[in-house]
Amino acid sequence: MRLCLVASETAPFAKTGGLADVLQGLGRVLHKQGHDVRLFLPLYQRIENGKFDLVPMAGAQDIDVRLPHRSLRFSIKTVELPGSEAKVHLIDCPELYRRKELYTDDGDEALRFGFLCRAVLETCQRLQWAPDVVHCNDWHTALLPLYLKTVYAWDRLFARTKSVLTIHNIGYQGSFPDSQLDTLGLGEQRAHVHHGDLRDGRFSFLKTGVLHAHKLTTVSKTYAKEIQTAEFGMGMDELLRTRSSDLLGIVNGVDYADWDPANDPLIPHPFSAKDLAGKAKMKQALLERMHLPYDPRAPVFGVVSRLTSQKGFELFADSIPIFLQREDMRLCVLGSGEDSHEKYFQWLRDTWPKKVGIYRGYHDELAHWIEAGADVFLMPSRYEPCGLNQMYSLRYGTPPLVRKTGGLADTVQAWDPATRQGTGFLFEDFSSQALAGTLDWVFRTWRDQAGWKRLIQNGMAMDFSWDKQGQEYIGLYRSLVG
Ligand code: ADP
Ligand code: GLC
Repeated sequence: MRLCLVASETAPFAKTGGLADVLQGLGRVLHKQGHDVRLFLPLYQRIENGKFDLVPMAGAQDIDVRLPHRSLRFSIKTVELPGSEAKVHLIDCPELYRRKELYTDDGDEALRFGFLCRAVLETCQRLQWAPDVVHCNDWHTALLPLYLKTVYAWDRLFARTKSVLTIHNIGYQGSFPDSQLDTLGLGEQRAHVHHGDLRDGRFSFLKTGVLHAHKLTTVSKTYAKEIQTAEFGMGMDELLRTRSSDLLGIVNGVDYADWDPANDPLIPHPFSAKDLAGKAKMKQALLERMHLPYDPRAPVFGVVSRLTSQKGFELFADSIPIFLQREDMRLCVLGSGEDSHEKYFQWLRDTWPKKVGIYRGYHDELAHWIEAGADVFLMPSRYEPCGLNQMYSLRYGTPPLVRKTGGLADTVQAWDPATRQGTGFLFEDFSSQALAGTLDWVFRTWRDQAGWKRLIQNGMAMDFSWDKQGQEYIGLYRSLVG
């Protein structure tokens, strides 16, 4: 199949979260299965500054796109997806993408991503490459199905092209004033945009995609059900219920080429389920790096996260201090985001300088060290479409403590000391008390080191590889292409 994957992030080129990992993993596996897969994303400033071998693509240079009030020119630079020969086409339009951050609050944010959708289709036209499926991801790419049906419908190249939209996070919908529809060349397509939004003078990329994509997916079975409820739907549940039969949950995969402690180039002490000696060394190395005293008996709790309200860290306020006071434990935090969360973690660090270490910012290598060196991984998410970190931590022998929601509910099983089954610790109520009760459960389990070893090994034996998960996407594409 000719498969066109479009997203605002793809690792290792541009990443702020799990979306980038998913595009990389899915791209690799689809290519490995013999499909003609091409990935598209903007050529951001940070990619230009990176050490990538970007090659201008013949036949796709200086393409002009006429918009109602102006014209924009772009070219394609191509690079191979590392660890694969899949082609990544980068949309080079300095006017839109040469900025410090991937996402901005600038006045042309709608144009930046609306243009991404158009540039993909314009490139297909130039190359005379007719995709069987265009697979869009999140709001940034969600206008593409509507463009296909309207502005580009005249071109027979796309006569058989089907569209899939994957919702990685319904918390980000791309909502803008409806005056922007003109800017995007969709002024005549108002009838195809969600009417309720238009009444409020707005339109949303994500809703438009949900209305027009042939199939919808999200990144876990549980989240597929949750987003159809008022509690999790963020105002889109009613619309999603109307498309229920076209909405599928496919749990994300893990790329064990990047995330396996037995051959992870980013950690100095490799280890495996059979030989955990390296894990003990990683614990020591991690604590040294975070300037914390090492004691093999004190469990290390790890956090690697975007610090946003989605991730549930406000539950720490009335739980974690009790344990930091009472227990010999360590807490290693890597993350950045909302100021209030950053300040809170800084306060924990200042109050318990021998127990808490933080790194504010984004740090790929440290993320791998925490997965490897911690004893427990914390993800108390308010909601979690899938979550990758809990799956990484399972493979790194770091049982996750998670809230039972979305993909966390689908990938972590509660530890049961009686049967010695299970891979981690779960709680349901979004409350500090529920989290505290679960921390108690962790400390009880930790005291039984034989049981703990079994818990680690259960987790390390789990297989979430893309080879398996990719098959579900291939099945979906086939059902569309026939
Ligand atoms: P989300 O996409 O909601 O952020 P996921 O668990 O799906 O959550 O994916 C998060 C990804 O981003 C993981 O690969 C994780 O290691 C990475 N990550 C998050 N924050 C940081 C950070 N501060 N430094 C390095 N990597 C990070
Ligand atoms: C989103 C979600 C996360 C998911 C990731 C990749 O950022 O928050 O749960 O794992 O996308 O699908």
